[in-house]
Amino acid sequence: MNTKEATNRILQLRSLIDRHNHLYFVENDPEIGDGQFDRLMLELRSLESSFPDLITHQSPTQRVGAAPLAGFSEISHALPMLSLSNAFSDTDLSAWYQRLYSMLDDTDFEMACELKYDGLAVSLLYEQGLFTRGATRGNGVTGEDVTLNLKTIKTIPLRLHGEFPDLLEVRGEVYFPKSEFIKFNAQREQEGLQTYANPRNTAAGSLRQLDSNVTAERPLDMFVYSLAQIEDNMSFNTQLETLDYLKSLGFKVNPNNSLAKTVSNVAEYHRMWIQSLSSLDYDCDGIVVKVNRLDYQQHLGNIGREPRWAIAYKFPAIQAQTRLMDIRLNVGRTGSINPYALLDPVEVGGVIVKQATLHNSDYIYSKDLRIGDWVVIERAGEVIPQIVRSDKEKRTGNETPFTMPVSCPSCNEELVNRTDEAAIYCTNSTCPAQLERLVEHFVSKGAMDIEGMGGKVGISLIQSGLIADVADIYFLQKEKLEEIDRMGEKSTDNLLKAINESKKQPTARILTSLGIPHVGSEISYLLMNKFTSIDELIASDQETLLNIPSIGPKISESIAEYFSKPNNNRMIEKLRLAGLNMVSESIIDSENSNLLADLRFVVTGRLDNYSRTEIQDLIKKHGGKVTSSISNGTDYLLAGQDGGSKLDTASSLGIQIITETEFESLIDNRES
Ligand code: IVH
Repeated sequence: MNTKEATNRILQLRSLIDRHNHLYFVENDPEIGDGQFDRLMLELRSLESSFPDLITHQSPTQRVGAAPLAGFSEISHALPMLSLSNAFSDTDLSAWYQRLYSMLDDTDFEMACELKYDGLAVSLLYEQGLFTRGATRGNGVTGEDVTLNLKTIKTIPLRLHGEFPDLLEVRGEVYFPKSEFIKFNAQREQEGLQTYANPRNTAAGSLRQLDSNVTAERPLDMFVYSLAQIEDNMSFNTQLETLDYLKSLGFKVNPNNSLAKTVSNVAEYHRMWIQSLSSLDYDCDGIVVKVNRLDYQQHLGNIGREPRWAIAYKFPAIQAQTRLMDIRLNVGRTGSINPYALLDPVEVGGVIVKQATLHNSDYIYSKDLRIGDWVVIERAGEVIPQIVRSDKEKRTGNETPFTMPVSCPSCNEELVNRTDEAAIYCTNSTCPAQLERLVEHFVSKGAMDIEGMGGKVGISLIQSGLIADVADIYFLQKEKLEEIDRMGEKSTDNLLKAINESKKQPTARILTSLGIPHVGSEISYLLMNKFTSIDELIASDQETLLNIPSIGPKISESIAEYFSKPNNNRMIEKLRLAGLNMVSESIIDSENSNLLADLRFVVTGRLDNYSRTEIQDLIKKHGGKVTSSISNGTDYLLAGQDGGSKLDTASSLGIQIITETEFESLIDNRES
């Protein structure tokens, strides 16, 4: 085949593939089977490899495979990416409508109703019909260049369909489909990897991967909801007409957009979607109401960073009532005893909820929760449900108040209270439940990263007596392993290989994996930057530790307590014997990441693992901002015990409230 013939066939193949991609991913209406599609891709790939000069950035073969980036570059948005003001009731909605009504010379202007997708906003730029640049919202003025990652999203056209303008910029929301999120987490759990907190954070974490091959493995999707710029003689009259046009260019536009003539039509749309949310495969936290006529939008303009012509009418947090059947206890890896509620299964926002976290005994006592109570549970868009309160009026007198046991539910050892902490602990270093959790932690991705040893495998190894502490992992023998349920020869070999590989992990990872209370990956890296070896850390005194910025008394005492135990020292010796890296290599300074760049946090209440200064330093170190009071610009309220009135303010403004653990997984999700 000569170059001319190849060019023709390549162009033909690209257009066929783009068309079938669109039919499959956007229209949900494929015309050909996977096999046929794969053959087209194969032919294109092989032609492109014979004629590499013909490869273009927009070829469907280029959706994946770019080399990892060292960092994202900054992009200034041609037009700022705005935020929305919120309405929480029909009254707020009517007030908004009335305000506009008085500014427009029209007695009944129409509105476009759209769903408010709970993902992350991005902007896509097309030049001469080709997707050339994509950016995150960032702070609204500048965002990050995530073009390579956006290219991996199959519903984003790399070339526009039909007649296209010279320049086009559209905006929309990238999300992680709910069904895919469940599968993704189940898969990770099976692999013994840490699971993710919710689809939104996972979408954000996935889009901010420096290696686009990782993003390509995440089934992200995107709805386009607005036109930012267009260079051509095209003009549209309304928002809905614009969206129809964007659909014709190949973008995925939500089919549930609707025209409302009156405020009551809008209220009806809002109510209807509260009922039907579970039928959607994406999270929504409200609806967005936009004045439909574009000339009216222009006339109304913005107030600060918010357009006057649009408003987000939020959905209420999803609540349900059910019976609290029992209060059970989990033993954490540090020995903390964590109560959780066993509920009479109930549907909350389309999900069957059987359990809720109860944090610690203070939480149970302060809410006066009794076994047998009717309780109100709430999922505010989050995966982990919370008990809001118990319904005291429904009590029959048969409810049983909860008392925290005095001995460990797993090993029966007496539990101890630590000063300053709400949690109580089992301090028995050979407690089997603790060992299970510790093994889970030890092998997890952020620690020694031993694939294939999480979950059931770890538990079987403990139960069969093959491991009595985490160091025993390094002395497992092939014949013994094969006797374990579900461990065939292949999985045994893979596991042994993974164990062996993990011996190369840097010292900071080893320190993280020990699971010392308050010593997570951040602190471990910090410490192993200061000390030349684990031995030097063990030998250090409290004063030396306290002189290190970010190390407070909680951490230094925890470290001292851990290394004062003979069992722990014996275990360290075994790890050394196994050939692990006990001397720290020069670690690249992990300071000043931008994992939380542009996110604004307010912190309230008492946290378990950090002092106020520690958490503030941690947020700032990752590029986040900490403010003392909540405003519309706040992204997260990080709430510990006794959060007080900030919790109410955050809920009324629709600001996401996260626990300490959720905060940690936010960092982890962004890190991975
Ligand atoms: S319009 C003025 N439409 O909500 C323009 N935004 O608080 C604002 N969002 O960051 C964008 N669904 O990511 C618009 N149908 C929708 C939306 C939507 C979700 C997000 C968007 C933005 C945030 C504004």
